Amino acid sequence: MKDIITLSIESSCDETSIAVLKNGREVLSNVVNTQIELHKKFGGVVPEVASRKHIENIDEVLDEALKQANITLNDADHIAVTYGPGLAGALLVGLSYAKALAYTTGKPLVGVNHIEGHVSANYIAHKDLKPPFITLIVSGGHTHLVEVKNYGEYEILGRTRDDASGEAFDKIARAMELGYPGGPIIDKLAKQGNKNAIDFPRAYLDDGYDFSFSGLKSAVLNYLNAKKMKKEDIIVEDVCASFQEAVVEVLSNKAIKAAMEKGYNTIALAGGVACNSALREKITELGKTKNIEIKYPPIDLCTDNAAMIGCAGYYNFINGRRDDMSLNAVPNLRI
Ligand code: KG4
Ligand code: ZN
Repeated sequence: MKDIITLSIESSCDETSIAVLKNGREVLSNVVNTQIELHKKFGGVVPEVASRKHIENIDEVLDEALKQANITLNDADHIAVTYGPGLAGALLVGLSYAKALAYTTGKPLVGVNHIEGHVSANYIAHKDLKPPFITLIVSGGHTHLVEVKNYGEYEILGRTRDDASGEAFDKIARAMELGYPGGPIIDKLAKQGNKNAIDFPRAYLDDGYDFSFSGLKSAVLNYLNAKKMKKEDIIVEDVCASFQEAVVEVLSNKAIKAAMEKGYNTIALAGGVACNSALREKITELGKTKNIEIKYPPIDLCTDNAAMIGCAGYYNFINGRRDDMSLNAVPNLRI
């Protein structure tokens, strides 16, 4: 059978990325141009700045992706692109670019849901992974517990009712003036802290599959404020470790519970927070006691990248999805 080459584009937030994949799971190139340094000084992503930077970067990222994959544009069988969820202006840069490429080359255009991309990073990392399985999607914008029934077929079991887990990490880091993005910084500082130092609340929400992190966020902010008022020292490492433990415990317990109740023995972690070392450790440990295997992509495939979009785009393509020039950005697209 002829190989299928996917050219994929991702620009939903602050990474301009283009990848080339062979048969959906083999990455020939995955060029990621991150704007983190640029947004750091603002303490978060500035949408207008992100869009402008995508426009500046995208040509160069394409050239590099083609060069590294050792192909020309004409070798691609289709163009896959993230059309949501994400920042409208940022999405539109990648989407318009993909449309222009598809139009001028006559290659099919295939829209991809960014969240499905995160899940698909696991197919690249684990060649033997096949649906069905449970996935825990934890990123800066999303926290979802999902049953993956087939390629492109999902059933949402639960989602966050307020903040996303990554957002909680970023906000707490910001409150302690630790820098942006908060997740990796807290992860690192927590290693030197005591996770049992402060008993922050865990929201189990009637034992269902939904999540909530706003109560925890308020509890940490109240703790920090009270300490400041009393002019007491704050042990940043202990706050990081105790906060992280509260997040990780709920995420792990709910995902394991879902796998057991729905009869699955595999859980795949996805999204930026899946980089978290405590989450990986805790859920793997719990999984072992219940005979549930935990899978996660390597760090560079957990955070935003076009390879994961290409993988999801490949399955959309072979399932017959085709988009035309009317495809628009959908900032609040759901899985
Ligand atoms: O998936 P991603 O790159 O972008 C979105 O689609 O949102 O996720 C970014 C999020 C940020 O909130 C960041 O703080 C978090 O992932 N993150 C982490 C870690 N590395 C990245 N959170 C906890 N621990 C980490 N090691
Ligand atoms: Zn993402």
